[in-house]
Amino acid sequence: LRRSGSSSTASSHFASRGFASALAHERKVAVLGASGGIGQPLSLLMKLNPLVSRLALYDIAGTPGVAADVSHINTRSEVTGYAGEDQLGQALEGSDIVIIPAGVPRKPGMTRDDLFAISAGIVKSLCEAIAKYCPNALVNMISNPVNSTVPVAAEVFKSKGVYDERKLFGVTTLDVVRAKTFYAGKAKVNVADVSVPVIGGHAGVTILPLFSQATPRANLSDDDIKALTKRTQDGGTEVVEAKAGKGSATLSMAYAGALFADSCLKGLNGVPDVVECSFVQSTVTELPFFASKVKLGKNGVEEVLGFGPLSDYEQQGLEALKSELKSSIEKGVTWHAKSK
Ligand code: NAD
Ligand code: LMR
Repeated sequence: LRRSGSSSTASSHFASRGFASALAHERKVAVLGASGGIGQPLSLLMKLNPLVSRLALYDIAGTPGVAADVSHINTRSEVTGYAGEDQLGQALEGSDIVIIPAGVPRKPGMTRDDLFAISAGIVKSLCEAIAKYCPNALVNMISNPVNSTVPVAAEVFKSKGVYDERKLFGVTTLDVVRAKTFYAGKAKVNVADVSVPVIGGHAGVTILPLFSQATPRANLSDDDIKALTKRTQDGGTEVVEAKAGKGSATLSMAYAGALFADSCLKGLNGVPDVVECSFVQSTVTELPFFASKVKLGKNGVEEVLGFGPLSDYEQQGLEALKSELKSSIEKGVTWHAKSK
């Protein structure tokens, strides 16, 4: 266990208007899998977030070094590293948000579903500990396959009697980040102004960007929309292939994970009208989990928003994704039932 850092250094660094109200809330964030490819840059970005007062970095190994390193940054949060299962409880206790990038990345030729056997076991044991040590925390699930790990987590929480559907999120922000980037490039608009909802799930065709709702509006051809949709759906594979066996997206994922956690923190702190896309328990389709825009509040999901009018192409995409998403969800539920 390594404890370092100081909570007294941040005020000078972030002494800007509005910071005083952010400081009014003590918020603990735990990152599980903090030594990994995503975990390290995500820990760095969470250390830069002035809404965080305590940052707990947990992994099976390597976290004392990561925590010592990150803790020297002169921002608000106090950083503590925890290594090994016997320190997991301490890492989790008092957490407001638990971010889970623990697992293994895929290699070229693999699907996210190929990671299921390893991820399901890891997610189960981590969620059992969350149920015990911080059952009220918001859980941001990054570990793949998200379409199945989120249902596994829900089943674990149900079995422990602590399931609150408002507090479990599959992180699909990277799909939104990619859709915005690719759209801005094609539409020749300022990427900072772009908004694109992405619905469905987080794997291949289950990722459905709604370019018909993208703003600023642009006159793109059907072929352009198809190409943008495919690139968004294959964004993860594009990175896996470019890394050629050395893992999957880590830096862009850390950015996306930090963005989503920041929105969760803002919601917890009572900031109004915080909306993000996320894979959550849902009734917007007949599927029990579905990614769409959700409004975040003091208890997590305040409202699961519908997805509005779809183009014919998107409607076809929605119908086409349902069977894969349904079976990925069922896979998680069935695995948990058998794992007892
Ligand atoms: P990585 O191998 O670099 O890091 C994973 C880390 O998890 C390692 O440090 C490992 O020690 C740790 N770990 C393994 N078992 C653990 C356990 N039981 N408890 C705590 N930590 C544990 O992998 P990565 O590139 O960081 O990817 C991690 C996961 O994130 C993968 O499942 C990957 O597919 C997924 N991912 C999801 C998205 C998304 O958009 N949701 C994007 C990119 C990657
Ligand atoms: C991604 O979208 O980059 C992640 O889900 C990682 C992967 O395996 O593609």
